[in-house]
Amino acid sequence: MATILLADDDEDIRLALSLLLSSEGYQTLEADSAKSTIIVANQQQPDLILLDMNFSRDTTSGQEGLEILAQLKSINIPVILMTAWSSVELAVEGLKLGATDFIEKPWNKHKLLNSVSAQLKLATLKDEHKGYRQLLAGDDIKDWVCHSPAMQSIEQLVNQIAPTDANILILGENGTGKSLLAQRIHQLSSRQQGPFISVNMAAIPDNLFESELFGHQKGAFTDAKQNRTGRFQLANQGTLFLDEIGTLPLNLQPKLLRVLETGQYEILGSSQTQLANVRLISATNADLSQMVGKGEFRQDLLYRLNTMVITIAPLSQRIEDIKPLVAQFISQFCKKYNKTAVTLNQQALSILQNYPWPGNIRELSHVIERAVLLSTGDEITPQQLILDNVVKNEVGNALPLQTLEQTEKQLINQAMEKTDGQVIEAAKLLGISRNALYRRMEKHGIEHDT
Ligand SMILES: Nc1ncnc2c1ncn2[C@@H]1O[C@H](COP(=O)(O)OP(=O)(O)OP(=O)(O)O)[C@@H](O)[C@H]1O
Ligand SMILES: [Mg+2]
Repeated sequence: MATILLADDDEDIRLALSLLLSSEGYQTLEADSAKSTIIVANQQQPDLILLDMNFSRDTTSGQEGLEILAQLKSINIPVILMTAWSSVELAVEGLKLGATDFIEKPWNKHKLLNSVSAQLKLATLKDEHKGYRQLLAGDDIKDWVCHSPAMQSIEQLVNQIAPTDANILILGENGTGKSLLAQRIHQLSSRQQGPFISVNMAAIPDNLFESELFGHQKGAFTDAKQNRTGRFQLANQGTLFLDEIGTLPLNLQPKLLRVLETGQYEILGSSQTQLANVRLISATNADLSQMVGKGEFRQDLLYRLNTMVITIAPLSQRIEDIKPLVAQFISQFCKKYNKTAVTLNQQALSILQNYPWPGNIRELSHVIERAVLLSTGDEITPQQLILDNVVKNEVGNALPLQTLEQTEKQLINQAMEKTDGQVIEAAKLLGISRNALYRRMEKHGIEHDT
């Protein structure tokens, strides 16, 4: 049954409301001041708030009610305003600030109960709607590509551990799909109805770290002009995704460690201890064990994060995924740019399968986006593949980027072929002395006549 917070400085009114509402089967909570209203609302997360417009300060302006309303906005609980001195302007102002309805005191029982049940129903519908939206937004997740053996074993592991509450650390190079996997784990978990809150640790300034994660109360520090809900609270009953965890500065690591160890934290400016109810997923492209070795990352924090570790292989080790990924990106970008369907020709596919993909799937998606834009017929050909890290050889075939050593060896072999094994001629072609060429050939183990 729904819980309703009764916020009114008048004890008699709270009593009357509480009797009326509990006789209808609702649970009630009470708050007698502006401050306690905010605290109870934040901590107990009632389903609905009945809010008096005038607390002690003055009795008619409604300003206090409006101020509380503004502070309640971030926690997303429906609020019905009540006042003995209702005025249309005040009602409008209240509704603008996010109140969901307005009731005059003394109230009409039926009107009040109707409003309460209507607002609760509406809130449930909104939640459901949010759930649907999340499902819809999760459309890409259906398109999760995992054909390669490397991804198949991840798939198996994910199916096993997603439903548990185990902390998961996702490792992998940039663009390998860490963020997408985190969302996917959330959607496969028992918390799928709850929020998925993502925090990019690299984007939080050091001095705002605690406020961002744990929230703050108005006045907790100079710039704290409003209450702020922290990410741990936003992710309540859902999943908290800490992206780029490797960038968390050493001096801030104990603050994260504490909440992971004890499940407890405090909102800045409040002494009340909060209980975290989140499933934690973190991700990084950094080598955390190496960072531990160098004293840049706390070992105890790593142990908290890595209950389960999933390492996503770079795309170059997942050749089997390239074809289905390309198909998915082609259809996505054809839709985006209103193009009729195109396919990738065999030669283009084989170039993509041999390219080293330093930017992994994100890079592949950019390459396909450009190719779709450039395509004129119904096929994507090698000409439309603009690959950043490619050197072209004489015949214009794209070759994967290779090391300088490999290139040197390849050029020497080409020069030798062209000159039918005449070292002097080959050296001329390459612009080096005969002796220099001999030395290099020996280095690379290339046979030559002396
Ligand atoms: N298995 C997959 N199937 C389909 N699309 C994928 C898959 N993995 C990643 N993608 C797509 O590739 C792109 C990059 O993925 P994502 O942002 O999750 O990578 P990341 O590892 O988090 O990158 P970064 O390290 O830069 O944060 C996204 O567009 C994502 O939708
Ligand atoms: Mg990411």
